[in-house]
Amino acid sequence: MPAPDVTEQRFARMRPRRVDAARVRPGDLPPGPRLPAILQSIGALRFRHTFIPAMHRRYGEVFSLRLVPEGRNFVLFSRPEHVKEIFAGDPEVFHAGKGNAILGPVMGEHSLLLLDSGQHRRARKLLMPAFNGRALRGYEDLVVRLVRAEVERWPEHEPFASLGRMNALTLEVILHVVFGVTDEDRLAQLRPVVHRTVNIPPLVFLGWAFPALHRLGPWRRTVENQVELDRLIFAEIAERRLASDLADRPDVLSRLLQVEDDESDHALTDEELRDQLVTLLLAGHETTATALAWTLYELGQDPDQEARAHSAAVADDSDYLEAVLKESLRLHPVIPMAVRHLMAPATVGGIDLPRGTNVAASIVLAHQSESSHPDHTRFRPERFLEGEVPTNTWFPFGGGVRRCIGAGFSMMEGVVVLREVLSAYRVTRPSGRTEVPRVRNITSVPRHGARIVVTRRSSPHHGDQARSDDFRNGP
Ligand code: HEM
Repeated sequence: MPAPDVTEQRFARMRPRRVDAARVRPGDLPPGPRLPAILQSIGALRFRHTFIPAMHRRYGEVFSLRLVPEGRNFVLFSRPEHVKEIFAGDPEVFHAGKGNAILGPVMGEHSLLLLDSGQHRRARKLLMPAFNGRALRGYEDLVVRLVRAEVERWPEHEPFASLGRMNALTLEVILHVVFGVTDEDRLAQLRPVVHRTVNIPPLVFLGWAFPALHRLGPWRRTVENQVELDRLIFAEIAERRLASDLADRPDVLSRLLQVEDDESDHALTDEELRDQLVTLLLAGHETTATALAWTLYELGQDPDQEARAHSAAVADDSDYLEAVLKESLRLHPVIPMAVRHLMAPATVGGIDLPRGTNVAASIVLAHQSESSHPDHTRFRPERFLEGEVPTNTWFPFGGGVRRCIGAGFSMMEGVVVLREVLSAYRVTRPSGRTEVPRVRNITSVPRHGARIVVTRRSSPHHGDQARSDDFRNGP
């Protein structure tokens, strides 16, 4: 089992990589604001919900931004035909891993999110069997148990922030269904460590480029936490490798341990497994929780939609519940754009772009296009059932070879949550503040936590279902 100092070495190795030094001349790019890069970055990151649409209105369909560090050039696209070109771009030229380099110190150098080209292809191939339809069906029973244990504790008639509850739930799902931990002691040790890992402040990530900071408070504490996380994960991997019932275990790690690599004579190493588990944790936890909180909020403020979704939940109509989740992700995209870094000159939308440009498919702009989604401000799940949503106009999970590997997982989890919540409770929104998005890390969360009120429906169908003790002790 790798010793904790492996973690220290990873930290030493993993400084954010400098993105391609070859700068493109602004004159070569579509128009965009002339503000200093720092102000454009604040607008694009912090105020993305108003700044990006404003730039779109001011500069047109395709426009450029300069973002820190190094005044990197971004060209934003949102028309379906342009989005298609970006997602179909040659993966040797359209790299995605570079832009995520800042996550390296925590996710690790083998992380799927950080790799490109052949290395990405190999990692993706090894991870895919744990996310295909058959695997997802295998996880569902465990997800149902965890969701029921969470939902049945909800207080009636009292407003509460659904985002907080969904964050707690998706973390439990990752621990049980992705990591596959069943030992109570290890779960109790993992919870606070994992909680601290998903809450690393963005400033800590940004400061990683400056080694002098590493001995100071927040960075030192991050390394210490990481050493402990690695110790627990490596111990879990080592024990799981010895388990005789791997094939029967309903979790992602157990599936990954059974995958064979036919290009070289080894499958995923312990370090690779560790990096992928931490990646799945960071990529899958808050994103799914945020999407679910927005969905409950939207249903809570529309009694007709809530009633329709309740009927679908009782009838176990997964297609309708999926449409509800999709419409929520359309109105409230969790991630604003999918970005590719050009390793060679390329043409998108008839525009010749030099090497070093970052091309972005803007999820925010595409999802609020009136021509693609008529009446775009309205929450109307039916549009996904009536064949009204053309391809490349809805892509909350990105696209092409980098499309979110957990998209199916989060939809499965979301359908279970809606089925359990809506068949047990009537969901409404407390009077008062309307929700608005706020940027947290890189996700767009509901600023006030998507507060809802629940009232038990007359015939709860799962009052005495499994309740897991570990859940009562959860975060
Ligand atoms: C509603 C929930 C989620 C949203 C909105 C979301 C969104 C995204 C987006 C936009 C990307 C980038 C795609 C691109 O560049 O084209 C991505 C990548 C990724 N997501 Fe998700 N995600 C969600 C849930 C999950 C879950 C549950 C997991 C894992 C359990 C996960 C794991 C990943 C990974 C590993 C990648 C990198 C894929 C690659 O580079 O090949 N995500 N996600």
